Amino acid sequence: MAKRIDPCTLVLFGANGNLSRIKLMPGLFRLDAAGRLPEHMAILSVGRNAVTRENWLADIKGMLDKKFKDGYDEEVFKRFIARNHYFENSSSDPDAYKKMSTVLSDEKTFPQNFAYFLSVRPTDFAPVVEQLSGVGLLDESKYWRRVLIEKPFGTDLPSAQDLQSRLTKHLKESQIYRIDHYLGKSAVQGIMLTRFANAMFEPLWNKDHIDHVQITNNETLGVGDRTTFYNATGALRDMFQSHLLQVLALTAMEKPADLQPESIRAEKIKVLQSIRPIDVNNINKQAFRAQYAAGRVCVGDGHGENVRGYLDELNTDGIESSQVETYAAVKLFVDNPRWQGVPFYVRTAKRMHEGNTAISIRFKKAPMQLTEGQHQNWLTINIQPRECIKLEIESKIPGLDIATRTMSIDAPQRKSSDETIDSYETLMLNLMEGDPSQYLHISEVEAQWKLVDPIVKAWAEDSSPVHQYVAGSRDPKESGVIFESEDQFWRYSIELGGDKH
Ligand SMILES: NC(=O)c1ccc[n+]([C@@H]2O[C@H](COP(=O)([O-])OP(=O)(O)OC[C@H]3O[C@@H](n4cnc5c(N)ncnc54)[C@H](OP(=O)(O)O)[C@@H]3O)[C@@H](O)[C@H]2O)c1
Repeated sequence: MAKRIDPCTLVLFGANGNLSRIKLMPGLFRLDAAGRLPEHMAILSVGRNAVTRENWLADIKGMLDKKFKDGYDEEVFKRFIARNHYFENSSSDPDAYKKMSTVLSDEKTFPQNFAYFLSVRPTDFAPVVEQLSGVGLLDESKYWRRVLIEKPFGTDLPSAQDLQSRLTKHLKESQIYRIDHYLGKSAVQGIMLTRFANAMFEPLWNKDHIDHVQITNNETLGVGDRTTFYNATGALRDMFQSHLLQVLALTAMEKPADLQPESIRAEKIKVLQSIRPIDVNNINKQAFRAQYAAGRVCVGDGHGENVRGYLDELNTDGIESSQVETYAAVKLFVDNPRWQGVPFYVRTAKRMHEGNTAISIRFKKAPMQLTEGQHQNWLTINIQPRECIKLEIESKIPGLDIATRTMSIDAPQRKSSDETIDSYETLMLNLMEGDPSQYLHISEVEAQWKLVDPIVKAWAEDSSPVHQYVAGSRDPKESGVIFESEDQFWRYSIELGGDKH
C-alpha cells in the first residue's frame, strides 16, 4: 500500500554525476509516472557547473530519451519537467550555500520539507552537511530535513566513527539515511518475507535442522578500470562488509515484533552484534583470500573471452604488487540460541565462472538414510540473475527398487508481468516517505566494521603470496579449508547437479 508523502523538495547534490544521470533522474521520472510522487514535490538539482534552467531541462530530456528508448508519456513528462530546477553550487563561491538557502526559501516553488540526496564522493559527505548546517538548511524546527548518503561509510571503524561524529554535530541519527543500494533490491527485501510469510520455513530455521548457510555474491566481471579504487578496497570491504553482512542479518534475524522500520532494524542490529568476532590467531581456518589470474570468462552471449589477471591489470596502471583479495570466503558463527554452532559461509569473488547472488541453506541429514547417495535438502533463495526460491527434495525413483533422486521445486519470484523497479527508486521513495527500514543504522555500520577490520588487518600484515585462481574457474579448492566438516562444499548456481568440486 502506498504511504503518504509530505509535500517536499528533493535536493540532488552531484546532479551532473554518473549515478544521477543514469539512475536517479530516470528513477524519479518513473516514480512520477507511477503516481508515487506527491503533487507538491520539487527537485532541485545541484551541480558544479553554471547551467540555465532551460538547458538543464533539455539535459534531463536527453537522460530520459537515452533511458526510455521506447518513449514515455508526454503528460507525465510535462509534469515531471515542471518539478525540476537547477542550482549552481560553485566550489569557488564562498556564498554558494547562502544563495542556495535563498533559492530554497521560495516556498511557492520549493515545499519546505527537504530531502538531500548526496550523490557525491564519500569525502564530500561531511563538508556538504557542514555547509548546509551553516546556513540553517538542516534545521528541523518547522519541517523535516533528511540527508541520504551511500556506502562506503568510512573505510574502517575509526573512519566510520569519525564520519559519524562529523555528521552528528549537525544531524540527529533519525535524519541520516545511509543506503546500501543492494538493500533496495526487491529480492533482498523478499528474504524476510519468504521466511516469515511461509509457515513451513520458520520451524526449521534454526540449529536443530540447518547444517550450514552459504551466502554468495560472485561476478564474472573483473575490476575493469577501477584498479586504484579496488586495490585500496578489496573484496572484503567492497562487498562483504555491507552487502553480504546485511543479507546475513536478514537471513538470521529473529521475527520482528511488527513491520515498523525500527522493529526490523532492531532485529538486524541484534544479529550483527551476535556474530562471534574472528579469532585472528586462527584466521587461516576462518577466512581465505585469493586473486584471479589470467583465464577465460563467459560473456553475456555464452561466448568465452580471454582476460588478464588482477596483478597484470594493476601493473598496467603502475601498481607493481598487491596482496589485495578479489576472492574472499569467511566462516562466521552467530552466537545466539537459534544459531549456536551453525556455520555461515560468506563468499564473494570477481572473475568467477558465473555471476550469482544467493543464499543457500543446507539442512541436516534426514532422520532415516534409506538409500546410499541420498542427499541432504537444500533451500536456495536466489537473488540474481534469476529471482527464485528453490527447494531440493529427495523422491523415490519409480520402479521396483528403493532408490531416491533429488528433485527440485522451483518457484520463480517474478512473473513476466511484474514491474522491474530499480533499487534506487525504492530507496528514494522510502527517503521521502521517512521509512528508514532499508537504510543502515550507525550501530549496523559499526558492528560490520568491527567484524571486518581484524581480517583486513591480518591480511594486510601477511606478506605470503596470495593464492591465485584462474579467471572463469570455480572457487579455489584451497578455500575449502574453512569448512567445518569434510562433507561440506560450495554450492554453485541454482541448476541441479554438478554442485561439488
Ligand atoms: N555511479 C554509480 O553507478 C554508483 C553506484 C553505486 C554508488 N555510487 C555512489 O554514488 C555517489 C556518486 O557517484 P557518481 O559515480 O555519480 O560520482 P561522480 O560521477 O563523480 O559524480 C559526483 C558529482 O558530484 C559533484 N559534486 C561534488 N561535490 C559537490 C557539491 N558540493 N555540490 C554539487 N555537486 C558536487 C561532482 O562534481 P566535481 O567532479 O566537479 O566535484 C560530480 O559531478 C558516490 O557516493 C558513489 O560512491 C555510484
